[in-house]
Amino acid sequence: MDGNGRWAQGRGLARTEGHRIGEERLADVVRIADELGIGWFTAYGFSTENWTRPKLEVDFILSLHKNIFGRTDEMHRNNVRIRCTGRPVSGTSRLPRRILKEMDKAVARTRENTGLNFTLAFDYGSREELIHAARGAVAASRLSGSPISVEAIGDHLYVPEIPPVDLLVRTSGEHRLSNFLLWQTAGAPLYVTSTNWPDFDRHELDAALTWWRSTAGIRHVAV
Ligand code: FPP
Repeated sequence: MDGNGRWAQGRGLARTEGHRIGEERLADVVRIADELGIGWFTAYGFSTENWTRPKLEVDFILSLHKNIFGRTDEMHRNNVRIRCTGRPVSGTSRLPRRILKEMDKAVARTRENTGLNFTLAFDYGSREELIHAARGAVAASRLSGSPISVEAIGDHLYVPEIPPVDLLVRTSGEHRLSNFLLWQTAGAPLYVTSTNWPDFDRHELDAALTWWRSTAGIRHVAV
């Protein structure tokens, strides 16, 4: 969800305003993905690299957990299942306990839901996820004697049930991969739009899906 800062600065606003509106767009896009019947939607809310940003900005982004998890009632009514991926899963997160508690509450509340699978990557870095998975696979291999395989690594990712990504969307014209779902996006087509995330709307998502040619084969979109 790139371009929040540029969106705000272009309007003479504080970067944090871009993140605030970015959270609203995220909620909209979750609704739209749900309406379109997309099975999985994963969004990169806060990366392990984002900790190096100015404290004010970090604190602001982290505070947005209240906004997104404040929408749990609505998502629950819509049968959306919320998951979080990132360091919190491995117990190594630097996030304050109150945020981890809010996450756990939203995840537990929607655990039985069978609609859209919405995953928020929060304090997430793909390389750390792969280290976590490799450690898990090595430990399992020692116990069982079976060799370390692609399946064994996949089984020890933070959220093993996240399927391969069918479409990876990057906003604000970023033509590069980031430290996001590197295992799950192997082979995924990359769609780049010059639109900044706070302007990403239904039309933008439609354009991304049309680019893919048809929505029929899409189970999992990541932004
Ligand atoms: C990248 O844009 C965006 C982020 C680092 C934060 C993304 C957060 C949201 C969209 C809000 C929702 C998040 C949560 C946690 C609920 P940037 O700041 O790098 O913008 P720039 O590339 O224009 O500088």
